[in-house]
Formats: sequence, C-alpha cells, structure tokens
Amino acid sequence: MAALRTLIVLAIAAGCSCSWSSDCSYFGLMNHLNLATSNKVLEIVRPVKNWTTTTLVQLGMILDAILEVDEKLQTVTNHIWIKMYWINEFLTWNSSEFCGMDILTIPSSMIWIPDIIIQEDASDNRGSQDDALVSVLSSGLVRVNTRLQLTYACKFDLYRFPFDTQTCNITFSSVNYDENLVKLGKLTNDTILTEVSDQKMLTDGEWKLVNIESIISTSVTLKSKLVYRISLQRKPFLYIINLILPLLFLLVLDLASFFISGGEKLGFKMTILLSIFVLLLILKDILPSTEDTLPLMAIYCVLVFTLVWISVLETMLISFLKNLACSVGEETHSSKIFKVKTQQEESAGAAGSAKPEGSNPPMDPPGGRGLLKLILDKQKPAQNNPERQTNDVGKFSCSRLRLVKIFDSVLFVLYFTTVVFSQIFIFTLWIFPVIQNQ
Ligand SMILES: *[C@@H]1O[C@H](CO)[C@@H](O)[C@H](O)[C@H]1NC(C)=O
Repeated sequence: MAALRTLIVLAIAAGCSCSWSSDCSYFGLMNHLNLATSNKVLEIVRPVKNWTTTTLVQLGMILDAILEVDEKLQTVTNHIWIKMYWINEFLTWNSSEFCGMDILTIPSSMIWIPDIIIQEDASDNRGSQDDALVSVLSSGLVRVNTRLQLTYACKFDLYRFPFDTQTCNITFSSVNYDENLVKLGKLTNDTILTEVSDQKMLTDGEWKLVNIESIISTSVTLKSKLVYRISLQRKPFLYIINLILPLLFLLVLDLASFFISGGEKLGFKMTILLSIFVLLLILKDILPSTEDTLPLMAIYCVLVFTLVWISVLETMLISFLKNLACSVGEETHSSKIFKVKTQQEESAGAAGSAKPEGSNPPMDPPGGRGLLKLILDKQKPAQNNPERQTNDVGKFSCSRLRLVKIFDSVLFVLYFTTVVFSQIFIFTLWIFPVIQNQ
C-alpha cells in the first residue's frame, strides 16, 4: 500500500508535465479520481452524493468445492467465489478523456467497501486475502471478486442418514447499514447459479449439489439480507456397503445359526453380537450425540443389536431347558439310573444269551452259586421297579425334550417373523421417501 502510494506520488512528481487532456497513464486517472494521495473520505464514507440514496450491492456466489461436511460439529466447509457490484458515485470518468481507459484496478483498502458478512461463518480464520483488488469501471461501478474457504454452521437433519439431503443457508448481510442505506441484490438467477456451481465444482466428495436458491429478505434488525439455500444430497453407497449390508448379513447369519446344533450355536451368536457392536462403534464416530430425533440408522443398529441379543438369550434359555429336561430324572436318581442301566444291560445280555452269566460264574469263587442266587434275588425287585422307573424317566425326558424342541421352533418362527417385519418396516420408513422424491 505505502509502496504503491509513494510510487504514485513519485510518478506524479516526475511526470507532471504531461498533458491532462488525453492522458493514457493510470496515474492521470488516479489523480483525476482523487486517489493519487491518501483520500480518507473515499475510504470510509459510503460513496453517495445524497446520503438518502441507497447503495445497491449486487451479490453473487458460486460454490466451488465441497471440502468437508462434519456431522458431529454440524459444519460445512466450502470454497466459494463471491462477486459484489455496487456504484461509487465519486469514481466516474469519461473514458474518451483517458485514451478509452474504462477500467481501473486498485487495492480495496483505497475505497469504501460494504461491510457484508456471512452470518453462519464459523471459520477460525477468514480465508480471503485481506487486501484484495477491486476493479472500478468508468461508470462508477465497482467490482469485487474474492475466493474464500468458508466453514459455516448448518443444522443437519440426520433422520434419514445416509439417504439424507441437507439444506444449508449462507446468509449475507451488512453489519451496520440498515436496509435503506445498503440493500443487497441478486447478481445471477438461481438456475444459472446452480449450473455454474455444478460445472465449476472441483471436488464434492460424498455430496452432490442438488440446488442453490437465493432469497432476498429483511432481517428483524432492518438489515437487508441475501440468503443462499444450498441443498446437498449424500451419496450413500459407502455407508450401504460399510454399515447397512453388513448388519443385514449378520442378521441373516443369526437367523441361519438356528440350524447349527449343539454348543457352537451360542458361541457363534455371541460372535455376531460382537461384530454388530463393532459396527455400532463406527456409527458412534459419525453421528452427533446432540440429535433431537434419533437417526433411523441408529435405530436400525440398535434394533439389529437387540434382535441378536434376544436370539442369544433364546439360545441360552433353550439350552437351559434342554439340560433341565434331560436331568429331570438324572439329577434325582442319577446314581440309581447308572446302576439300573448297567443292570439293564446285564439283564438284556442275560435274556439274549447266557454268556454273561456263563462268563460270570467262573470269576466267582467256586461254590458261590448261592451267593449269585442271592444277588439275583436281591436284584430282581430292584430290576423290576427301577426298570419301570427308568422307562418312565426316559419317556418323561423324551417328551420334555420334544416339548423344548417344539418351543424352540415356535420361538424361532416368532423371531423370524419379527426380524422380517421389522426389517421391512424400517426400510420402508427409510428408503421409500427417498425413492419417492427422485
Ligand atoms: C436527496 O434525496 C432526496 C430523496 O431522494 C431528495 O428529496 C433531496 O432533494 C435530495 N437532496 C439533494 C440536495 O439533492
């Protein structure tokens, strides 16, 4: 700045002998516009001759890149181009007097600039260059072009995540000038704006620009404001293959594990439960905890988790019931049954062939026939009664086991229907409106 000014002063001092009538140098024009020396009034005062004149600031914004969308912090980072046009009534000249020169580019600090800010701005540093150049046309029209990295707050609606469309506002307004002094206007119409933004888009990541719409209104504090309403649609594919499909497949695996028999079933189901827990952890990193309405994705995860959890509990219950059914006789008469079983085998052997009996006596001490008879006699009542008992216990436990198996099947059918209907329900709630919109 200072360098430029000394340069200008030097140039004027050096070349003052030039004729003013047809000056082709910038310095001549600067001198004509009272910009050659520091002109405080031009820098600080709204450039109108009659203060009641409203300065119309025409503003255009082009979305250049969608750099980041942070669901947790609820901010969006974009690159944007901002164009602002307004009339400076003091910076006019007749271009024929200056070799047809009709545009002059000067540092923006030399003249008055409207104090337009973005209300949603959450950038830690202002990404724009602080001493940008502005172009002044001979008619007095001043043009500003800036490109800046803008991080702005946006309230997300994550109910349909990842099939969601977010609408964010970027509001431009003057900080200090009321609407009757500085008024904002649109530079381009919305369809052109969206098209240009779409074409100029450098990177959009997982988002697709659907629409940009601009609205001019007046704030409650009587400031003119221009609101850009940006609609962004998420490309859900990554989340489908990363979260939704695995959950669905794990649920199917859980259903299929019904056909596994034995103790492996419980271990398998526990593994599924743990896998779902890992997916829940991933989700925790994506979704914000400050949601009023819980996103369907979270509901879905919790639903699948609960379903598998219930199925683990069911497996535990069934295995407990099976144990109970089998041990109803065994617990109370376990020792007896053991004996009885051996006796049964013995008696069966005795009935089938006399071999065991034949093989037994030689092992007995000689002359032990009486003892054997005694033992057999002792066994007879024990044989008769416990045999009936064991048969009863066998039938009892068998029928119980069958009951348990039927119970298991009924529970499985109930579980299966619950799973199918809950999945259908949640997917209609989730995806149907999205399909309908398209
Ligand atoms: C300033 O503008 C107002 C309203 O347009 C008008 O009534 C008034 O005469 C103007 N004053 C001058 C000095 O031009």
